[in-house]
Amino acid sequence: MKWSVVLLFVGAAVAVAEEVVLAKDCDVELCKLPDCRCSSTNIPGDLLPRDTPQFVTVTFDDGVNNLNIMTYREVLYNRKNSNGCPAGATFYVSHEYTNYQFVNELYNQGYEIALHSISHQTPQTYWATASYNSLKEEFADQRVLTSHFANIPMDAIKGVRLPFLQMSGDTSFQVMSDFGLVYDCSWITNNYSDPALWPYTLEYKSTQDCVVPPCPTASIPKTWVMPMVSWTDLNHTKCAMADTCYYTPELDDEAGWFQFILSNFERHYFSNRAPFGFYIHEWYLSTNPAVKAAMIRFLDVINNLSDVFMVNSAEVIDWVKDPVPVDQYREKTCKSWISSVCPPSSCGNVPATHNQNTYWMQICNVCPKVYPWLGNPLGLEPVTEAPEAL
Ligand SMILES: *[C@@H]1O[C@H](CO)[C@@H](O)[C@H](O)[C@H]1NC(C)=O
Ligand SMILES: *[C@@H]1O[C@H](CO)[C@@H](O)[C@H](O)[C@H]1NC(C)=O
Ligand SMILES: *[C@@H]1O[C@H](CO)[C@@H](O)[C@H](O)[C@H]1NC(C)=O
Ligand SMILES: [Zn+2]
Repeated sequence: MKWSVVLLFVGAAVAVAEEVVLAKDCDVELCKLPDCRCSSTNIPGDLLPRDTPQFVTVTFDDGVNNLNIMTYREVLYNRKNSNGCPAGATFYVSHEYTNYQFVNELYNQGYEIALHSISHQTPQTYWATASYNSLKEEFADQRVLTSHFANIPMDAIKGVRLPFLQMSGDTSFQVMSDFGLVYDCSWITNNYSDPALWPYTLEYKSTQDCVVPPCPTASIPKTWVMPMVSWTDLNHTKCAMADTCYYTPELDDEAGWFQFILSNFERHYFSNRAPFGFYIHEWYLSTNPAVKAAMIRFLDVINNLSDVFMVNSAEVIDWVKDPVPVDQYREKTCKSWISSVCPPSSCGNVPATHNQNTYWMQICNVCPKVYPWLGNPLGLEPVTEAPEAL
């Protein structure tokens, strides 16, 4: 808990600056798997591309609700990779209006639940300048909240994505390191997309371009960056999420979208096979049925390829730590998880303390006293002010 100790004695920019150890240039002789990897486009384990599994990481962001769960069921459920193992996807869940019974369902389907903050608040500068304590409340406490209300194990929650993909310098990574979170998937790279950057750790200085500053500069061992490798749109403009690409095929052109997705995938598959991120928000699929159909067609195709694996993001980190050749990877036993029951509660009129609203909560636990929020992730009875002494 090195960082939090420093911050308790807030004085503090100076004290923090002294305590932070700036990362040095990466030394491949010192930085070795499984816990250290230099930022690089080299394939882990120095495998040849043809011996490297091509991972595809599909992710969805924000609250999980009774509308978007329909799309998740339609697009994702019952998919298998070509080796028979269940296909994965990762949900970066933000707290407000999330239905935790559906989060429990997604977990029980084998998908990864990850953190996207409690408040997801604006303005974006809040995230750029957030204090250690704010980010501890937004992410470390969100892990406790999610585990409690969705009834899923704390340890299963490993990843972080900052709202608006707004980096927070070292701070978010310091919180992750102190609270046992494994990887971040917020940091966009435009420069390292062809060939693309593989995941790496922050013990040594990153060579990644900083598209949404501030980016980390401290040495933070064993904390992984899963770079968000940009796609390239039809006019060679970079886009971090499929729904932020500008020069796309027409939104009702399913064949055009299928080709667009495939050509971005092929930039990875026919090169160094760095993980191919398919990052999208559900609203884009539900408002554009042709895009959804194209995505389904793309997933059907890759689920048929013997060297392509649609996985949870955390599974990519696991492979990078121990990079076995694709033939061996195909034969491994499938990931397993212990399914977790959801004792359901529907909680009406839960009062908030951060605004004037009351909330409707669907959870797998007893109803909280107040709407869970920053500083009170379990929604306990707020401590009332002691009455003034007479
Ligand atoms: C990224 O690319 C731009 C444009 O080519 C270049 O100016 C910049 O130095 C690069 N940054 C890094 C970190 O490679
Ligand atoms: C494509 O990008 C270039 C440079 O970024 C720009 O000048 C051009 O207008 C764009 N093309 C279209 C069709 O908008
Ligand atoms: C997947 O492979 C099977 C068997 O080779 C084939 O029948 C099917 O059409 C393929 N599906 C797609 C979407 O390529
Ligand atoms: Zn978001």
